[in-house]
Amino acid sequence: MHLIPTPRKMELKSGFYYFDGEMPDVKKEVKKSFLTEEGYRLTVDSDGVCIEGGSEKGVFYGEITLKQILNNYRGMLPYIYISDEPEFDYRGFMLDSARHFLTVEEVKKVIDACAYFKLNKFHFHLTDDQGFRFEMKEYPLLTEVGSKRRASEFSAEESVREEYAHYYTKAELKEIVEYCHERYIEVIPEFDIPGHTTTLLAAYPELSCTGEEIEPQTKGGVFEDILCAGNPETMKVIYAVIDEMCEIFTDKYFHIGGDEAPKTRWIECEKCHKKKAELGLRNFQELQGWLMNEVAEYLKTKGKKAICWNDALKGGNLDSTNTVVSLWLERNNRSIEWANSGKGLIVESNVPLYMDYPYAVNSLEKIYKFNPKKLKGLTEVGANSILGIESPAWSEHIRDFTELTYMCFPRWLAVAETAWTGGNKKGFPQFLETTRFYCDVLTEMKITPAERDVWSGAPQKAVPQLLKYGKRMLSPESVIDFIKVQKNELFGGGK
Ligand code: ACM
Ligand code: ZN
Repeated sequence: MHLIPTPRKMELKSGFYYFDGEMPDVKKEVKKSFLTEEGYRLTVDSDGVCIEGGSEKGVFYGEITLKQILNNYRGMLPYIYISDEPEFDYRGFMLDSARHFLTVEEVKKVIDACAYFKLNKFHFHLTDDQGFRFEMKEYPLLTEVGSKRRASEFSAEESVREEYAHYYTKAELKEIVEYCHERYIEVIPEFDIPGHTTTLLAAYPELSCTGEEIEPQTKGGVFEDILCAGNPETMKVIYAVIDEMCEIFTDKYFHIGGDEAPKTRWIECEKCHKKKAELGLRNFQELQGWLMNEVAEYLKTKGKKAICWNDALKGGNLDSTNTVVSLWLERNNRSIEWANSGKGLIVESNVPLYMDYPYAVNSLEKIYKFNPKKLKGLTEVGANSILGIESPAWSEHIRDFTELTYMCFPRWLAVAETAWTGGNKKGFPQFLETTRFYCDVLTEMKITPAERDVWSGAPQKAVPQLLKYGKRMLSPESVIDFIKVQKNELFGGGK
């Protein structure tokens, strides 16, 4: 039987239940006291089909499992008993519409596919150096100026010279949020601060330390111009964006970025020095920690919990009461220590979870075998502080929907398997068969996965992918270089 994710407990019995039409009648019941919120039991016997869930959400997951079983047996169902619940509450996928934009219809197709494999958190990266994709009323230049860049030069060889201009209206984002909620997916907007903010500074140059005019970036990277932490206007704009985003994004988590914020400008800025002294802080990493804490506190007044990339831990003063950390890349073990002291951690390690990395680096097998609870240095408390995993699809190099589905599918099936079942998986050959099976289902959903050779064989079989996207997609060597450069930028040079 092909099911993704694999249910915790499944007993296949002898006998079949026959029914007319596409779907059998299903008896559904919420049984709060017996089951966890996302847990469910599915029974098929001579009386028919029954789904019990710990909540409506649990019932929904039972229905998905039923649909998947029906993909295996059309017109009849084997007698079966399934009792299931996820290992992790947080089972996330991330889309980056800041670098390359996805239409509402494209986003919905991805959501459909992810819901089908029981992923439940959609992290939407909406603002970055190359695009501000949110329709902002109070500071309209954020959208007017920030949503347009002059060209796309993410790859030197294939630069696109015409203007690239896109944003989502509030009505469109509401539609996406509702679409997710109908599928029991929470939406987490990301407003990345204080770095990755060239578009904000292009709109309102007075928010930078230098006040100089700049334009939205046309290629990827880490940029030195960031929001000035010593300017009170910065906080006003941040809160205004949060206010307007919170009208649309009504779920618990709100991502405030915090990654790759070089302190070059702060070190040279009188206002930043003054702020640091006024707060009695020792260095500019602490100043970033202070900024993230202020914003997390503001989000708390709106009933939200902040998420920060692990870079925000460098000051050592991030407050865990309002914030959880998402770990993407780290040398100094701060995230592990954070988790070991009982603070919430979402694991999105670039290896194996970044979907913009080639299949030769982050293979289906590596994702399948990944156990976030076995990260080096994690204690038992640390392992229990892992909220779950998330897999980002950064879009500097993924330019459109076709490339996106190629990179994410079928790898997000392995992400879904790991997120639901945790680390105790031993059946990769079986999982490969099941993945092959679901690639056909994905195609019916208008999601075209990568061809089999790319993901089902030895890493060298992924070479066609490198050849296909060789000029733009990162090669294994360039990924290694990239990680080295990132490590240097993030941890070296006393920044
Ligand atoms: C990141 O990849 N900069 C979080
Ligand atoms: Zn400053």
